[in-house]
Formats: sequence, C-alpha cells, structure tokens
Amino acid sequence: METIHFAHLTDIHINAPEKNNPMFGIDMTAKLRAVFEDIRNLKTKPSFVLISGDLTQDGDLEDYRHLKRLIDEESRKAGIPVHVGLGNHDFRAPFREGYLEEVPSDESYYYSFVERGLRIVMLNTQVQGSHDGHLDETQLDWLTETLNEPAEQGSIVVLHHPVTATPTALMDSHLLQNPEELANVITGRHFIGLLSGHIHFHNIGSLNGIPSCAATGVAFGLDPTSQDSMIFLDNSGYNLVTVKNGQMAVQPRYLPGEHQLLFEYNLKKDPAHT
Ligand SMILES: [Fe+2]
Ligand SMILES: [Fe+2]
Repeated sequence: METIHFAHLTDIHINAPEKNNPMFGIDMTAKLRAVFEDIRNLKTKPSFVLISGDLTQDGDLEDYRHLKRLIDEESRKAGIPVHVGLGNHDFRAPFREGYLEEVPSDESYYYSFVERGLRIVMLNTQVQGSHDGHLDETQLDWLTETLNEPAEQGSIVVLHHPVTATPTALMDSHLLQNPEELANVITGRHFIGLLSGHIHFHNIGSLNGIPSCAATGVAFGLDPTSQDSMIFLDNSGYNLVTVKNGQMAVQPRYLPGEHQLLFEYNLKKDPAHT
C-alpha cells in the first residue's frame, strides 16, 4: 500500500482584514500564511491539507469571502488541495455563500473523499447557537451508509470537537458530547484514527482503541495544564499525518515563536464566560 502524507490544521479563526478587529491584536491571516509557508518548505510534500473548523472568528459573510481568497491562493502556491470542516465559531449560511459560493442555507456540512485507498470523513459536530459538540442521528446514519464503500487503507474521521479526555477539567465540557454513538458506528470498521481541534493544544488519546489526536490551533494556543483559567498563548502549529501499512502516525509541529502569554481568563472570577 502506498504511503500517504497530509497536513492537519485547525482553529484558524480568520477575520476579514477590513474589519480591523483582530483577536489579541494577532493577524490571523499572517498566521495561516506562515503555516502554509512551512508546509511548502517540507522535504516531503503533503498530498492535501485538512482544516478541522473554527475557520473564522466571527463567521460573517465577509470573513468567509476573505478566507476563500486566502485559501485558494495558498492552495495554488503549495500545489495541494485544501479540505475544510466547520467548528463552533462557524456559521453555515455565510460559509455556504462566502466560501462554497452556493445558495446560503443552514444545512449541515459533512462529506467524505478517498485518496489512494484512504477515506477521509469530515464530520460536522457543531451545535448551532452553542459551543457544544454533538453528532446527530442523520449524520451517523450517513456515516454508516458511507462505510459500505470499501477503502483499502482504512478511514480517518475529522471532527472539530475532540473525543478524548484532556489534562484539564476546563476542557471537559468542550469534548464531543456523544462519543459512544460515534464509537458504535466506527468500531470494527477499519478506522485508523480520529483528528480534531477546538481545544487549541496537542492532545493524544483513543476511542475504543482508535487513536485520536487533537492539534493545537493555527491562530493561538491554550495552556493544557491550567485548571481554573484559560491561558491563551501566542503560538501556532499543526499536525503532519502519515498513513503507512494501515497505521496512522502523527507528528505535531510548532512554528517558531515566543509562546508568550496573550491573555488569562479566570473562570472562577467570571464563570459566565464558559
Ligand atoms: Fe478554536
Ligand atoms: Fe472551537
């Protein structure tokens, strides 16, 4: 079987530059461009790029139009396709109009594709109007149906909300709320891994023995060891993924940076923020 390399990015939190309201003063567009520059300089060129949600910070139409131009340009420069999924900061109707350039609708966005025998399943764990993650019955039924098509290298699930425990209780409510229902569908069906984001730090676990890797954010990171405050860090990274001999290998990658404290939000002082 052929070895496949790809890049998994997440949480790019882009806003249109004309809005001029960058989160923490960070230029998220520059962060994404820096990651693509890193990808272009890799010794082994990835076959494709996945971005697992929180594509935008605000989810406005102008944000998605800007994102579309940006990703089209970077994809062209790198010479590799980019596939995106949605996160809790995204809004379906402006995404469909601004990014997919189709008639706006609130229809959920999920799909799968096969690359040289490897199936990538991009799921939509958004719960509209909430930061929670959940997979509804319609999507799980679609997934069951999709698996009837064979994929000789196996399948990888990509979803915004992670499925596995993290070192901090702060993130317990940020995980997928019904992982057992996903496990029921994918266990024993030749799944070699799950890839997610949302928590903004690298985190490795498993679901029914299937390896599960969350990547840090492209836009910013969070300190995984903090128990009572959300500590935002000025870092940026992504994961390189290799599929070889029916197994998934993941190499976390940080871009050079200061890893400085950007902002600390104490949830005990202001629990309403959660
Ligand atoms: Fe995020
Ligand atoms: Fe998120």
